[in-house]
Amino acid sequence: MFQEKFREGIVSARDFNREDIEYILKKGQEMIKVKNLDILKGKILATLFFEPSTRTRLSFESAMHRLGGSVIGFQSGDVSSIKKGESLADTIRTVENYSDCIVIRHPMEGSAKLASRFAKVPIINAGSGSKEHPTQALLDLLTITEEVGELDGLNIGIMGDLKYGRTVHSLAILLSNFDVNVYFISPEELRMRNRYKDYLYHERRMKFKELSEYRKILDVLDVLYMTRIQKERFADLEEYERVKDIYVFTQKDLKNTKENFKLLHPLPRVNEISPEIDKSEKAIYFKQTHYGLQMRKAILAELMRD
Ligand code: CP
Repeated sequence: MFQEKFREGIVSARDFNREDIEYILKKGQEMIKVKNLDILKGKILATLFFEPSTRTRLSFESAMHRLGGSVIGFQSGDVSSIKKGESLADTIRTVENYSDCIVIRHPMEGSAKLASRFAKVPIINAGSGSKEHPTQALLDLLTITEEVGELDGLNIGIMGDLKYGRTVHSLAILLSNFDVNVYFISPEELRMRNRYKDYLYHERRMKFKELSEYRKILDVLDVLYMTRIQKERFADLEEYERVKDIYVFTQKDLKNTKENFKLLHPLPRVNEISPEIDKSEKAIYFKQTHYGLQMRKAILAELMRD
């Protein structure tokens, strides 16, 4: 069922219903128990990254190796023929002949969708501008279910750059399949755009509140998902300077949280989480990277196995 539905790949969190999410979470949980599995032997994954990445690219590549397959690709558009003027569509029509699945990160918002229109192999969206990053959101849900528990009933804060942060868009969309209370916390100028809020409210009937100050609700949260202010997306760097340090989560904040509270972050972080709390059991952003590998193993296995 999942394999059939996502045979063209994973482009948007909007394509997932609750059953799809629960299925892939179960597959991710199974992957936690097995380090290596030889199920993609002879398959080739292409990773095309037109923007910087540490976790997403390396975890996909590591996942592919751990499943017995091979990887080709590039880490920057500067070393591909795009630099010579080739279109993204032509790049995809070429790379599909060399691979069984393509992972793409590109600054253009509709890049993954466009790639999927031209590809005969599955396309995985590893970040499309400031729009979406659906596999990050899937790994975030795996982290929450493993470290906190069932999603239904949780109070979840999503904080930081909600305007430009692609991970928060995909996460909010996936969460709209569950009975959760969501708090969108950001400065006024970095509020989630109306197109996302309208979708979540009118089409998904999601319960959410918007606020600027997180300290007032720290004691009700089960999860706080922090994000970096996305400097690279600001047209006006003065605006970035005004908001860049607006939230810095500290040891003092941690003391005001519930006993089972967990702090997540897709990483990379800049200044928004004080390193003094890295050792706390409540700070699970590095565990999140471990779950990322497991989720990506599960995704590749589903999309590529015969
Ligand atoms: N979370 C995430 O997308 O990290 P990278 O930018 O390092 O891939």
